[in-house]
Amino acid sequence: MNSPAADYYTAERYRALVEKTKNRMLRRYMRAEARFLAKAGGKGKVFIDLGAGYGRLEKLLSRNAKQVIAIDINEDELSELRNRAARLGNVLVIKGDVTKLSAALKEIPDDAIFLIAQNTLGTIKGGHMKVLRELKKVSKGQHGIILSLFRQPALEEQGIGMYTSLKTMVGKPDFSKTDFKKGVFVTKNGYKSKWWTDKEIKQIKAYFGGCVVSEVIDPAFWIVYLLPEN
Ligand SMILES: C[S@@+](CC[C@H](N)C(=O)[O-])C[C@H]1O[C@@H](n2cnc3c(N)ncnc32)[C@H](O)[C@@H]1O
Repeated sequence: MNSPAADYYTAERYRALVEKTKNRMLRRYMRAEARFLAKAGGKGKVFIDLGAGYGRLEKLLSRNAKQVIAIDINEDELSELRNRAARLGNVLVIKGDVTKLSAALKEIPDDAIFLIAQNTLGTIKGGHMKVLRELKKVSKGQHGIILSLFRQPALEEQGIGMYTSLKTMVGKPDFSKTDFKKGVFVTKNGYKSKWWTDKEIKQIKAYFGGCVVSEVIDPAFWIVYLLPEN
């Protein structure tokens, strides 16, 4: 799905509205994601964070990893990401388009774990299929993939409340274009976000094959660590 969502985010807005949110579902999601990532990381691993934003997760990731490679396309967010990386020491920032991942990354360490956090896959500029194809192309050997996504069944009950709390960033919901059955959320400003059906989640798992290292299935979100087939 093509989405201009990247243009709605600024480091300041994202920090104020998402990281410091009072929305209960979003807080539960961020806590679960942080716990999941803390367990997944290990000394000596390299995280490659696709669509890293302003670096919300980089401190946590860098604590457990040998290195973090953080990629984003949005200049406003990159500027704060670079500030944070400078303080952390083991975070390399790349300005790049993750739909062209193989071009953005010169070398991929053998033990890298690719990460797509906080439903970034649902708002990728350029379309999520391109990112999944690139990931399949570049992930070899021991590479892991961590995907963290919102689930379609929760869009109507919990998603609308969450997006209402984010309306100064993304705009007000457009119910004439939002499709709860398909898990497509659209605002009057044209922001789009995909929430994933159970069928789509199964298809993503099947697309990579291999095995599931760990998984969290909440009514509102799904976080999985995959070791894809070679
Ligand atoms: C929902 S935000 C999440 C940010 C971060 N992953 C987090 O968990 O806080 C999505 C991010 O993906 C970035 N993004 C969207 N499309 C991209 C693309 N094609 N290439 C690189 N970054 C992209 C946006 O700029 C934005 O920072």
